[in-house]
Amino acid sequence: MALKNINPTQTEAWKKLGEHYSEIKDIHLKEFFKNNPNRKEEFTLSDDDFLVDFSNNRINQQTINLLIDFAKEAQLEDAISKYFSGDVINVTENRAVLHTALRDASNEEILIDGTNIKSEIQTTLTKIESFSNTVISGEWKGYTGKAITDVVNIGIGGSDLGPDMVVEALQFYKNHLNTHFVSNVDGDHVSEVIKHLNPETTLFIIVSKTFTTQETLSNATTIKEWFLQSATEKDIAKHFAAVSTNLKAIDAFGIDQNNVFPMWNWVGGRFSLWSAVGLSISLSVGFTHFSSLLNGASEMDQHFKNTPFKENMPVILSLLSIWYNNFFGCETEAILPYSQYLNKLPSYLQQAIMESNGKSVDRDGNQISYQTGTIIWGSTGTNMQHAFMQLVHQGTKLIPTDFIGFKESLYGLNDHHNKLMANYYAQMEALAFGKTKEEVHLDLKFQNEASKIATLLPFKVFEGNKPSNAITIKKLTPKSLGKLIALYEHKLFIQGVLWNIYSFDQFGVELGKELANKYYNKIK
Ligand code: F6P
Repeated sequence: MALKNINPTQTEAWKKLGEHYSEIKDIHLKEFFKNNPNRKEEFTLSDDDFLVDFSNNRINQQTINLLIDFAKEAQLEDAISKYFSGDVINVTENRAVLHTALRDASNEEILIDGTNIKSEIQTTLTKIESFSNTVISGEWKGYTGKAITDVVNIGIGGSDLGPDMVVEALQFYKNHLNTHFVSNVDGDHVSEVIKHLNPETTLFIIVSKTFTTQETLSNATTIKEWFLQSATEKDIAKHFAAVSTNLKAIDAFGIDQNNVFPMWNWVGGRFSLWSAVGLSISLSVGFTHFSSLLNGASEMDQHFKNTPFKENMPVILSLLSIWYNNFFGCETEAILPYSQYLNKLPSYLQQAIMESNGKSVDRDGNQISYQTGTIIWGSTGTNMQHAFMQLVHQGTKLIPTDFIGFKESLYGLNDHHNKLMANYYAQMEALAFGKTKEEVHLDLKFQNEASKIATLLPFKVFEGNKPSNAITIKKLTPKSLGKLIALYEHKLFIQGVLWNIYSFDQFGVELGKELANKYYNKIK
């Protein structure tokens, strides 16, 4: 059964939120903290290894209550149960949305057209495991009898961003295989990657859900031609694998049936890293770590499914985001991981969130009169402090931010880690509390700069009152990374439900592709 069609702006709770917004919009975070000494504890959610502190938001307890009333009135509970049980909630493509099934290790059946998909998932996982083990151990030989040294993932969008982001994030856990990603149709991209590769020791994985994507097919064809300059057609079986739903097209490309991994229509491209699309992850860090990544995501699935809204991390984060997007009129959200390993997380989340919720027609097909998908951007701390944070601190725009930090570093170097985390907490404090005229005045005086007070004072004032969430995680492991990604997947799902849009199609990318084909024929 499909999701209910409920216009959020017509709910009782929405109206109350509007009134509540007028009452509290000008209250400073300093006031909120002053008025409630227990604010930190009241607005922090935690479990074994995750802590979400949302006390630096422009909210009070009533805001949370009203937001939760809104989620209930918009029937979020019903949507969650349909999401996990495989109802056709991707109505415009007539599909279920079951990336959560890929990491569900329970014995519960999930039926699609009467077939339990759990056994297909298990068979594929077993195949990923044995394929990865054979390649990593060196048992898998290339056409001249040498072991594989390099793996190249050829894909784009969801068939690239997820694996690329995770492989980079889990570098610490990596084995000896060098992993590369070719995505752009820009021939210079593929040329730069292959120029250092030896065809005898390289394994190429072509990842494309549809196997019709221009970029991926062009890159795969160029690579095949390059490979065939030194090898023969029959050697392709030792060097090419493919992941797709389109088995016919894979066959036509000449890939050995044994090296074909399935994809399913009920997994959206941008949610597919948990499937065989994540083969490059499993090759890069080994199947045990890949499995832990899945377990971490599953842990977040359980939390999301079974926790009351008030203590539910994805629910709270999505409601806060709606609060800023729809009441404060914020247009963007910044994702700021304090870990160089998570360098690619913002781009990955851009696709996940913006391709999902960038919609302006509701589930009834009507033009929407309220704001939906937020613009996602970001970069890693501390580098971004020396780049764009000036605008977040003192610019004219209100930008809610998610800070993501880890209590422990991976290599030790504790002094570095202490400095990193000091910056993490300092940025959030500066954003929230700012610096008053009086404080600037005193500062200048103490620095023996009293003569400059008249000219400099207004420029050195920080207004503060800028919202942030702190997602503080014990340590970056495959498991905690899986949990973090799933947190954002659920956050965007909730927002789509509450905005009354379809989050799991992406028709907006089609027109450009069609026109590009027209131009291509002309340019040729
Ligand atoms: O163009 C957008 C898109 O369809 C994404 O949703 C998808 O992740 C990407 O292209 C790649 O598609 P495919 O895996 O079918 O090559």
